[in-house]
Amino acid sequence: MNQSYGTVSVIGLGYIGLPTAAVLASRGVEVVGVDVNATAVSEINEGRAHFFEPELDAMVRGTVQEGRLRAVLQPEPADAFIIAVPTPLTADRAPDLSYVDAAGVSIAPVLKAGDLIILESTSPVGTLERLAATLAAARPDLAFPADGSDASDILMAYCPERIIPGRMMTELVENDRIVGGLTKAATTAASALYGIFVRGKIVPTDARTAEMVKLTENAYRDVNIAFANELSMVCDGLDIDAWEVIDLANHHPRVNILQPGPGVGGHCIAVDPWFIVHAAGETAPLMRTAREVNDRKPDFVVDKIMALASPGDRIACLGLAYKADTDDLRESPAIEIVEALCRKHDGEVMLVEPNIAQLPPRLSLPNAKLIAMEEAVNNADVLALLVDHREFKAIEPEVIRSKKSIDTRGLWRAYSRQNRAND
Ligand SMILES: NC(=O)c1ccc[n+]([C@@H]2O[C@H](COP(=O)([O-])OP(=O)(O)OC[C@H]3O[C@@H](n4cnc5c(N)ncnc54)[C@H](O)[C@@H]3O)[C@@H](O)[C@H]2O)c1
Repeated sequence: MNQSYGTVSVIGLGYIGLPTAAVLASRGVEVVGVDVNATAVSEINEGRAHFFEPELDAMVRGTVQEGRLRAVLQPEPADAFIIAVPTPLTADRAPDLSYVDAAGVSIAPVLKAGDLIILESTSPVGTLERLAATLAAARPDLAFPADGSDASDILMAYCPERIIPGRMMTELVENDRIVGGLTKAATTAASALYGIFVRGKIVPTDARTAEMVKLTENAYRDVNIAFANELSMVCDGLDIDAWEVIDLANHHPRVNILQPGPGVGGHCIAVDPWFIVHAAGETAPLMRTAREVNDRKPDFVVDKIMALASPGDRIACLGLAYKADTDDLRESPAIEIVEALCRKHDGEVMLVEPNIAQLPPRLSLPNAKLIAMEEAVNNADVLALLVDHREFKAIEPEVIRSKKSIDTRGLWRAYSRQNRAND
């Protein structure tokens, strides 16, 4: 048993919360996970992770069997609370903080003096202060940090997460962590909690800076990807291979251009820069434009495929996930491309995604079906490579050369020069 934190409660047991809960439990902390999703709660209590992430399932099984981790639907008293609930966008691209608000309201009744609350959800600057105000309204008997002085009953810190799906269990331990308290005492307490399992550096700051750091990291990635995507569209118009241009430009000792793709997916890079744009208005034109460039790329790819395909052609779309070798379809540009193709093309659209067993309901379209790679590739008139999954690297060059093809990832460019589409 860890002496500093007898019980830690993790609110929200999704991609971030469950790995965090499991790794804390594996270090001897008693962890109570809370989620509003009853299916997730019962699967975890049966010793299973409710989504795939390497090494997670075994850690959940082990910690549940040892009695260190259990999941519940309603918050219980604990010494520390880590909140990892969604922070999506509203329809007009404003931050939707309703999940953070709801999580705050749900833990308010079980709080006691001395508790530590950590927000891990990616959040616009000022969200932790907003959470403190929500809690203060719900619990007038407790003092919450309002003015930066250490005189409060509850310690509150923001600690962003930067783990990547596929390597979460490693990065959770090895990545550096930024910890920003609303008070110095909160920064110290939260740093001590992360010290239980983090081998990377734990870097202290204040809450607003920590909130901005997370948004900055993703906006930086988005802007740089937008440069590569815009370059790929420019090169396409000039009939130049964008990947060759990037390879050659990257020989410059101070140039490091990222790789283009069909757009930007996942629910971090495609979402979080809007939090800055929403708050900064006219002072963030570069970040707004980068978002728009990346959001336009799927339409560009659709137009290229439609220009290549004849009416009635069978189009094989290779890959639906937002990145290579995962089953994560969230905010995937490949899905956007496939949906548009199904609407516009009058022939069959064959979907290949080796990492899923069935299509999500939104892709239940009359002219689209999920098909094994070999069958789709053999029967297609047009191949559209949308994700660089390892399986697609093994498709024979002569098969690719024999079809009309579009390669949004630069995977086959050596094989298909005559059909090159530099996107
Ligand atoms: N997934 C990533 O790779 C990643 C990386 C860095 C940061 N983040 C950020 O972390 C946060 C969580 O992301 P995620 O990917 O884990 O989301 P997720 O959707 O996988 O999980 C969120 C969980 O919270 C639960 N939930 C919602 N409201 C709740 C409430 N009031 N009480 C208890 N549980 C509640 C949901 O049922 C869900 O299981 C987001 O802000 C996200 O932007 C995610």
